[in-house]
Amino acid sequence: MRSHFCGELGAEHIDAEVCLMGWVHRRRDHGGVIFLDLRDVRGIVQVVFDPDTEEHFELADKVRSEYVIKVKGRVRQRMEGTINPDMPTGQIEVLGKELELLNSAETPPFQLDEHTQVGEDVRLRHRYVDLRRPEMQERLRLRSKVSMFVRNYLADKHFHDIETPMLTRATPEGARDYLVPSRVHPGAFYALPQSPQLFKQLLMVAGMDRYYQIVKCFRDEDLRADRQPEFTQIDIELSFASEQEIMTLCEDMIRQLFQSVLGVNLGEFPRLSYAEAMQKYGSDKPDLRVPLELIDVKDLMKDVDFKVFSGPANDPEGRVAMLRVPGGASLSRKVIDDYTRFVGIYGARGLAWIKVNDVAAGAEGLQSPIVKNMLDSVPALLERSQAADGDILFFGADKANTVNEALGALRVKLGEDLQLHTCDWAPAWVVDFPMFEKDQEGRWNSLHHPFTMPSCSADELRSSPGDALSHAYDMVLNGTELGGGSLRIHNAELQRSVLDVLGIDQQEAEDKFGFLLRALKYGCPPHGGLAIGLDRLVMLMSGATSIRDVIAFPKTQSAACVMTDAPSAVDEQQVRELHLRLRKPTNES
Ligand code: AMO
Ligand code: AMP
Repeated sequence: MRSHFCGELGAEHIDAEVCLMGWVHRRRDHGGVIFLDLRDVRGIVQVVFDPDTEEHFELADKVRSEYVIKVKGRVRQRMEGTINPDMPTGQIEVLGKELELLNSAETPPFQLDEHTQVGEDVRLRHRYVDLRRPEMQERLRLRSKVSMFVRNYLADKHFHDIETPMLTRATPEGARDYLVPSRVHPGAFYALPQSPQLFKQLLMVAGMDRYYQIVKCFRDEDLRADRQPEFTQIDIELSFASEQEIMTLCEDMIRQLFQSVLGVNLGEFPRLSYAEAMQKYGSDKPDLRVPLELIDVKDLMKDVDFKVFSGPANDPEGRVAMLRVPGGASLSRKVIDDYTRFVGIYGARGLAWIKVNDVAAGAEGLQSPIVKNMLDSVPALLERSQAADGDILFFGADKANTVNEALGALRVKLGEDLQLHTCDWAPAWVVDFPMFEKDQEGRWNSLHHPFTMPSCSADELRSSPGDALSHAYDMVLNGTELGGGSLRIHNAELQRSVLDVLGIDQQEAEDKFGFLLRALKYGCPPHGGLAIGLDRLVMLMSGATSIRDVIAFPKTQSAACVMTDAPSAVDEQQVRELHLRLRKPTNES
């Protein structure tokens, strides 16, 4: 069959007789000579047919884009002036002698190099064509390399690859479950796992010591560029290891992965506490490529004659902070208005600003809609901001959450817009997460999950849940949460106190995860772990902007597969077998 791959041919093959198979990438007719760009999984090579080979020339004239062909011919040096330095095989071409049509093709729904002009919907509907694009193939190859690297790394460190069930019970990771109705247990449902969390902990109780799995997880949540309803985790758990050891291991794995696959040295990952991340960057997944930091000015705004600032400054849950942008005084009114609209997406009610034209002149040297209301605070404000001539200061004042979200997002956007990045890769660990956060109704929820080990005693946890920190850690890269993990509770009593704070009573706990609570009583070793989002990891490594671009067959924003038309209606008989009766969808649902 074939003797070489298209993309592999080079000067060293000159005069070799080759047999190639692949797709017609492009066909050009140059005054009686036909050029076919032939493409296979390793690249593209130019094949030339001239009228000397009459029968094959005629066939070459008939083939169209995406026809599948077999070509026999001789590799030759391209003529002076026709060498293409942009093409890996651009020095040579194949003089075609025989051409065999293996399969014809309908006109593709889009030209492979013109995919950007068609909607993603069209690309996804014909994903098998979309995936023929070298760029997409490269991403899938990278994904395969990453998985293989991780497997080898972890196997080398004595981790066991163990499968856990897909048809299981709900795992509390905070999203909605995908449910599967049972035919043999009328009225009962399996849940697809949001993660293998409970099973991996049970494997530690079972004495397996070190577990990993590259595993599908399912979460019915609102989708975004970095979220899919089914996605893949590199899931890790180990026994008798400290938080430090787990983090060091995972960090080393990622560092070596980048070194080996991309030739990039990530260096040591800086660690910052959750509190510090929120204070400086307004985010628990800070993009540390951007050098800007939020600066607190709450104390300077308590008495100013500007309610927008003095209100939050006097509210215990409020925050007033500023962001200094070097050189930002040249931003136009229109651009500032655009940024004001941008922070509005995050709930901010405005974006006050001060342009610093001349620091030495004090208030006189400033240009701003708000300075007149806070003249007394100006010297302290300038001092704290370290502002220089030509800077702009942006302000956020509101509940702390809103200010963090708005200025945090603005910080990242300014970093991109004004090209402020100081490096290409900025990894970090965020540690010391709070155990709980309050929801709208004032109930405590786990920030990570309910099996996370607190850094305080059961009594302290019960008496002031809001102050309790946890042994949880997130791995962040370039502003994306790549992975998260924690030490787990291995003591039934401590686990009980966490469930108490969460308002989960004995009965509910027994119903939901009695099996885990029981296991803790049968000699559970101290253990902990982490899960890395494989899709996000490959997205960042490949420079893609959406995880859909690194998943062979992803779902759309509305969790549908437009190629297979899933989800789809099923016939009445199947529904009946599952003991279900469907309600007519109403307009609201
Ligand atoms: P967590 O919920 O933080 O932790 O998930 C771990 C990582 O999985 C990725 N991820 C996703 N990727 C794509 N689409 C999604 N919908 C999605 N949701 C999560 C992220 C995230 O950092 N059991 C714990 C881990 C542990 O404690 O060991 C867990 O699942 O990259
Ligand atoms: P106003 O007095 O409402 O016209 O606002 C004066 C300036 O403060 C404008 O630049 C607004 O964008 C800005 N502003 C209003 N509300 C807030 C807020 N909550 N945080 C930051 N700036 C604000």
